This record gives sequence, structure tokens and C-alpha cells, in this order.
Amino acid sequence: MKVSIIGGGGLVGSMAAYALQFGRAASHICIIDANKDVAQGVALDLLQGSCLVADQRITAGTMEDVSTSNIIVITAGLRRKPDESRLDLINRNVDLFLNLLQQAKAAGIKENTHLVVVSNPVDILTYLAGKLSGLDPKRIIGLGTVLDTARFRSHIAKRLQVAPTQVQALLLGEHGDSMVPIWSSATVAGLPLEQFPGCNPQLMKDAFEETKTAGATMIKLKGGSGFAVGVSIAEVVQSIILDSRKILPVSSLQNGLYGVHDVCLSVPTEVGCGGVRKLFELALTPKERIGIQQSGKLLRDIIDQVEARIGNSSSVAIGASSPINPQSNPQGKILPRSAWQPSRKY
Ligand SMILES: NC(=O)c1ccc[n+]([C@@H]2O[C@H](COP(=O)([O-])OP(=O)(O)OC[C@H]3O[C@@H](n4cnc5c(N)ncnc54)[C@H](O)[C@@H]3O)[C@@H](O)[C@H]2O)c1
Repeated sequence: MKVSIIGGGGLVGSMAAYALQFGRAASHICIIDANKDVAQGVALDLLQGSCLVADQRITAGTMEDVSTSNIIVITAGLRRKPDESRLDLINRNVDLFLNLLQQAKAAGIKENTHLVVVSNPVDILTYLAGKLSGLDPKRIIGLGTVLDTARFRSHIAKRLQVAPTQVQALLLGEHGDSMVPIWSSATVAGLPLEQFPGCNPQLMKDAFEETKTAGATMIKLKGGSGFAVGVSIAEVVQSIILDSRKILPVSSLQNGLYGVHDVCLSVPTEVGCGGVRKLFELALTPKERIGIQQSGKLLRDIIDQVEARIGNSSSVAIGASSPINPQSNPQGKILPRSAWQPSRKY
């Protein structure tokens, strides 16, 4: 499968490309960036190590490449200027994203493409992509709290001094300050986390706080997240390529689960061929459930502000394809391979 990374010359995009090279599942990695020299450089750098890693095509491309891509990852984004408000940054990134979507559509985005949105504000941009790209919302996945969840698990493991891969703990809701730690289902090697030796309320509070501030810490220490977000993106992309059907906390259009409607946020989601295959609603504590609903309200407010500025003219586009319905679970059906993996042209 061909994976194109728009913004692939930047820190996040290039790290995603590197993780995908080592993941060996993509057959073609294409780097697209407004800075063409950097895109060429990243592609060449990866290509020069390819004989030691995997037999993949690695190229620098242009927007024309989206028309032959099975998965498009969008990591193009702007950073906050000094003294800029959060909403101003949101507006600038929304404008950049809408511009990119327009260019991608003009280049001929295929209807069976998968779109993986990473740029921030990721939940808002994922929602707008659902409205404006013309793609089935099931094929549009935001990275959501996948990175936050990876950080959370790793930070808990560090504090408990246990193997990171044996810690299971989820963060759901918004990729942002209102993200919700789901302590009720957290485990270490299948054992309840809260009963694990060494675990206590202070440790849990500190691990969550460290996770919540991790993005800012990364910006302060090294300019931004790279390695962890790269492997998080690869986790999602490879679950699509390999149809692994991993359950991941990605962001997608919500239609009633946990009492949340008409926003994109993260809930446990089966990711495979066709993108979002199933969403899961489990019994949570009242605090956890309310937390997810508060994330939903907060995101809805931002969407309202964004739509008031850009207009809501394309709201019909989203109705063109069926929203994800957890009751009838239509996305759980097996899709024919041809529906998601067209014949290769390269
Ligand atoms: N969802 C998450 O978990 C998560 C985590 C980390 C970062 N991010 C987001 O990822 C985005 C990228 O972060 P970064 O650190 O890589 O930034 P960066 O500045 O290093 O890279 C951004 C890249 O986008 C490119 N770009 C800008 N406009 C473009 C356009 N119109 N077309 C093509 N390329 C364009 C730039 O040339 C640059 O190479 C930001 O929005 C950041 O907030 C998301």
C-alpha cells in the first residue's frame, strides 16, 4: 500500500515515515511537503538506509500523489506564535487544513483512500475532513489520544518499574486538556492496576499529569514530539494496511456512544481495512463517562466557533455517507479486499 505523508518534511511527518520504514508494512512511502527541498532530503535519507531495512519504494512527491495513495497522513501544521491565543492558532491551522483538503480533492482523492489526520487541533480537523473531503467518515481517522495513551502507559510503567508493554491503560475523549484517564479498566499484566503493588492515588495523579503536560514538555526540551508520535502514527497506519483490527483510541465521528453526538473524539475503535470498523461503548465510572461528555461539549463549542467563521456551507457532504451507527454496526461487516485495496499501479 502507498502511504503519502503531507507535511512529511517536518518533525512529526519524518518520524512517522521512519517508523513506517521499520514497520515494513507499507510498500511505498511518499513524502510531500510545502518545503520541497526538505521533502527531497527526508525521502533521500530514508532511501539511503533502505537496503538495510526493507524493500519499499521511498519517494518525494507532490499533491498529485494523493490520487494514487491508499493512505494519506496529514501532519502539515503551524506552530503557535508568541502571544498567540489558542483560538487564533486553531483558525490558522483550520485554514491551512482546508486549503490542503481542497488541493487534495483537486488532485483527485480516491473514494477508497484512508485519511489519517495528525495535525492539531486533531479532533476539530478530523471533523472538518468528514464534512469537506467527500470521503466516507469511516475512512477518516484522527490520531486522537493514541499518542497520549502511549505516553500514559509508558509513564505508569516507569513509575511502577514494570515492563511498559504489560501496562494497559486508556485515555479517551479530546486530544487536549480534557482527555479522560480510564482508570477503571487499567491493568498490569492482566492484573487490576489499582491493586498492583506500589500503585497509589499520588502515583496515578502524577502519571496522568506527566502525560497531560507531555506535549508542552517536548516542545520545551526538544522543539516538539517526534519518536513517540511517529510510532503512534505507524500503529494506526499499519493496522489499516495489515487489517489487524487493533482496538485503538483514535478520533472519529461520534453518533451517540457515551452520550456524545456530532463531534470527533477518541473512543475504543477497531481499526482495519476500510478505516473505522467498530466503536465500543463499555461501562465506565460516572466520572469517566461525564469526562468524555465534557470533552464532547468543549469540542462542539470550538466547532461552532470555527463554523461561524468559515461558514457551514458543506454540511450536506457529511450526510452523503452513512454516519457510524454503533447499534447496527454496519462497519463491522467484512469488506471485499477490492473495496479498500485497488490494484497497484506502481
Ligand atoms: N495529534 C497528535 O498527537 C500530535 C502530536 C504532535 C504534533 N502534532 C501536530 O502535528 C503537526 C506538525 O508538527 P511538527 O512538529 O511536525 O511541525 P513542523 O513545523 O516540524 O512540520 C510541519 C511541516 O508541515 C509543512 N507544511 C506547512 N504547510 C504545508 C502545506 N500547505 N503543504 C504541505 N506541507 C506543509 C512544513 O513545511 C513542515 O515541514 C502540528 O499541527 C502539531 O501540533 C499532533
